[in-house]
Amino acid sequence: MNKSNTIYAVGIGPGDLSLLAPKAKAILLQSDVIVGYTKYVELINDIIDNQEIVSTGMKHEIDRCRIALSKALEGKMVSVISSGDAGIYAMAGLLFEMMEEEKYSDLNLEVIPGITAATAAAAVLGAPLMNDFATISLSDLLTPKEVILKRIKAIAEADMVCILYNPRSKKRTELFEQVINIFKEKCENKVFGTVKNVARNNQETHIGYLNELAVDQVDMCTVVVIGNSNTVLKNNRIYTTRGYKNKYDL
Ligand SMILES: C[S@@+](CC[C@H](N)C(=O)[O-])C[C@H]1O[C@@H](n2cnc3c(N)ncnc32)[C@H](O)[C@@H]1O
Repeated sequence: MNKSNTIYAVGIGPGDLSLLAPKAKAILLQSDVIVGYTKYVELINDIIDNQEIVSTGMKHEIDRCRIALSKALEGKMVSVISSGDAGIYAMAGLLFEMMEEEKYSDLNLEVIPGITAATAAAAVLGAPLMNDFATISLSDLLTPKEVILKRIKAIAEADMVCILYNPRSKKRTELFEQVINIFKEKCENKVFGTVKNVARNNQETHIGYLNELAVDQVDMCTVVVIGNSNTVLKNNRIYTTRGYKNKYDL
């Protein structure tokens, strides 16, 4: 590993350090500087030793990347952390974009994967992602609402399991209801699962059928899974059948 010209985009997993991947942990321990959103830095507090910490509030992603890149140019080993996976609605792509600038041409970017909220939540709920699925972020800060709704309609039409990231903020409540209605129009009895604060304090799970979903249980710390026509709810777990029973004697 060449510490001096590589910047690392590190996924720290959903929260609990037991779900921090060994490679991600090793990179963080070796880093001179760790850059991240304050709340995510708190999640890895127990493994921080002598590393310099640069933390900023929400919506300062570009500032964080600029600081990280300038520290890397100074020859420091820098890790930019994201919750979950670094390349899923996270910092890795932004770093690639910013590193197109000539002054960063001697730097390399290495992406260190993490367990994303979708798979961590799926494991809590049962096994809803056993067949084809699509993830959609309902954040309309960078993607227009019309595009989000077009994609949701296509997923509902294709009968794919759908995972919603950034589902509902204090200000943006309507879009989530619109999305749920699109799935309900296809089938009222679709199974859903929500997990708030996956692998963090106060983890909270709800499972049921779409017509029972209470929208105010869902916030920006929640992932929502909407099943397809093969998703089963049994004993308070949900799973999507893949077709084994049709083909084999189980
Ligand atoms: C900007 S995205 C970041 C996703 C992250 N890079 C990942 O791979 O999980 C933020 C959204 O991810 C979901 N999320 C991330 N961590 C979560 C957790 N521990 N519990 C529940 N949802 C989480 C929420 O939907 C949240 O609004």
